[in-house]
Amino acid sequence: MAKNVYGLDLGSYEIKVYDKKSDTIWKEKNVIAIKEDREIFAVGDQAYEMYEKTPPDIQVQFPMENGVISRFNDMQYLLQNLLKKERHFARGSAYVIAVPTDVTEVEKKAFFDLVVHSTARAREVNIVERGIADAIGLNLDVENTKGLFIVNFGGATTELSIIAGGGLVLNQLLKVGGSDLDQAVAQLVRYNHDFLIGHQTAETLRRNFGVFSDDDNAVMTAAGRDLITGIPQRREISINLVRAAVKEPLEQCVQAIMALMDRTPPEIRKSIRRNGIFLTGGVANLPGLELYLEEMTGIRTHTAIDPDICAVTGLKNIIGSKDLKKLAYSMIEDNYRWMR
Ligand SMILES: Nc1ncnc2c1ncn2[C@@H]1O[C@H](COP(=O)(O)OP(=O)(O)OP(=O)(O)O)[C@@H](O)[C@H]1O
Ligand SMILES: [Mg+2]
Repeated sequence: MAKNVYGLDLGSYEIKVYDKKSDTIWKEKNVIAIKEDREIFAVGDQAYEMYEKTPPDIQVQFPMENGVISRFNDMQYLLQNLLKKERHFARGSAYVIAVPTDVTEVEKKAFFDLVVHSTARAREVNIVERGIADAIGLNLDVENTKGLFIVNFGGATTELSIIAGGGLVLNQLLKVGGSDLDQAVAQLVRYNHDFLIGHQTAETLRRNFGVFSDDDNAVMTAAGRDLITGIPQRREISINLVRAAVKEPLEQCVQAIMALMDRTPPEIRKSIRRNGIFLTGGVANLPGLELYLEEMTGIRTHTAIDPDICAVTGLKNIIGSKDLKKLAYSMIEDNYRWMR
């Protein structure tokens, strides 16, 4: 018997973990701070606090990029440190990991290797396609559905999944996420006001203003630096500017949703129109996003209750249920199709 079971949803922005023993879900920023290129200085939320505020000898890095692990050793170190951090981490545990579907087999296997080839000495590792984990987290009937469309809006990616008859029919990973919205906000602020703001300021503006709300004349004061004089200042940024900025990357997502609908077999498409689109991922919290997507796609849209932890909640349900266990599979089994 494994000592404990962990469900992992590793995001480019945040790591989400389900710990079976304590029956809890926790999350922490997927960030590591390194001093002088060698020494690990801080991990997780603590490292994120230093983002854009550190002296030049401390580098703050994100071990994942566009939904896949780009710095394997950092990711491994970070994960193990977070698991150990006052959390009664047990070696020889079992892991169920949510993975993106539309990536290469090598990228997918890196999630598996992360805990297999490490001091964690994983006893068993299974993976679940993230679209499926999200559907289970939403309490949808994956087994019997005739058509579901799930959109996971994450920090760096947006994953589109179409599910029917117990499995994924189509899946696409877009390289557009919350950080692209933030970048669009920072760029437009710079262009319009000759004013430089950081990622975190842009994120705060975007999270507050969203895509739609009642108050169209709102302004928010943001800290930044005047591009011409170089002097740090605070300026008022209007809601309309922020919204104009976020709409551009969001339109790319809408186009991809419509294009994937076009590629979907008609029967499945009909069910999706009936069931609606389901939104998960942290960006699904964005005020007005649901309404915006409904207007742009003409399809009813529902947002998960806690969208950022929807996939890991799905893993929790899979870990806890005999019926759902078949949705998880090992990458070392004979029947796993390599290079699908
Ligand atoms: N209340 C909120 N309003 C708007 N955006 C939010 C809110 N909460 C979180 N976000 C955004 O959600 C994003 C993180 O979402 P999530 O945790 O799903 O990403 P991730 O899984 O780490 O990334 P990815 O799936 O792309 O690898 C961030 O861009 C963050 O700004
Ligand atoms: Mg994610």
